Amino acid sequence: MPKPVLLITRKLPAAIEARAARDYEVRLNPDDAPWFRDGAEIAKRAQGADGILCAAGDPMSAATIAALPASVKCIATFSVGYDHLDVAAAKARGITCTNTPEVLSFATAETAMTLMLMAARRAGEGERMVRAGKWEGWAPTQLMGVTLEGKKLGILGMGRIGRELAAMARGFKMEIHYRDINPLPAEAAQGAIYHDNDDSFLSTIDVISMHVPGGDATRKWLNAERLAKMKPGHLVVNSGRGGSVDDAALVASLTSGHTRAAGLDVYDGEPKVFPGYFALENVALLPHLGSATIEVRDAMGHRALENLDAVLIHKKPAPHAIG
Ligand code: DGY
Repeated sequence: MPKPVLLITRKLPAAIEARAARDYEVRLNPDDAPWFRDGAEIAKRAQGADGILCAAGDPMSAATIAALPASVKCIATFSVGYDHLDVAAAKARGITCTNTPEVLSFATAETAMTLMLMAARRAGEGERMVRAGKWEGWAPTQLMGVTLEGKKLGILGMGRIGRELAAMARGFKMEIHYRDINPLPAEAAQGAIYHDNDDSFLSTIDVISMHVPGGDATRKWLNAERLAKMKPGHLVVNSGRGGSVDDAALVASLTSGHTRAAGLDVYDGEPKVFPGYFALENVALLPHLGSATIEVRDAMGHRALENLDAVLIHKKPAPHAIG
């Protein structure tokens, strides 16, 4: 039996590429060249392929999917988020789409916690000061931030990542509040306080951490009107999807000081970053490294391959099918 043909759009950890090469005739993108941003190029490279292992940021739009050959039966994204992948268009063509949930929840929550600490304690600003040779020694009023202890953390989207963050934040003695479509069962909520409307949520919390999926339903959710409802001096953290924040509104709020500080790992239209952020000291900017640990990227790769194996080799339903 010939091996199924698998197009892998991005360079992956060595163990994952080795496993893929064992079970598939692989087409790799060995140098991570930018053709991955071009849907037409992906479709061209997919000629004769049975499956595609793509990644967050790949333009797997309806147009890309329409241009894929009929041979493609499974698209496995190396990510939990799939706002880059038109699942409905794929489904209409009989293509199974899958993602990599669970394995990255803790790491992504760690990134949110990192950003929260950087924002609260002005860590990026301090690091830049030291590197620039501008630090003149300890001073009683230098770079004073705020403590997280006793603050109210508002988690927007209490899914797996939100719940991991809640567990970490309890260790920082924060009080946990959350906003979601429905409340969690008491055992899962672990004492976190549910808000069934934006106004009570926003007016209560000191820090907001965004954990909502991308797409039209959450587009620019954190806008000027919602920021204005938050207490002066609040913190904003986003490690979910960049499109859920109105960048111009957040820059204005950071500039006025109504938002004390922010920490961002994701950007609308990334890798483009809203230019207004660069002039601000009170925003920490990370390059979408939410799940970027050695352990997690291996686990994500294995999960993506388990899904492809199910569909293309074992002819079974994929364990993490989406849509
Ligand atoms: C995800 O998995 O959706 C991340 O944002 C990409 O690492």
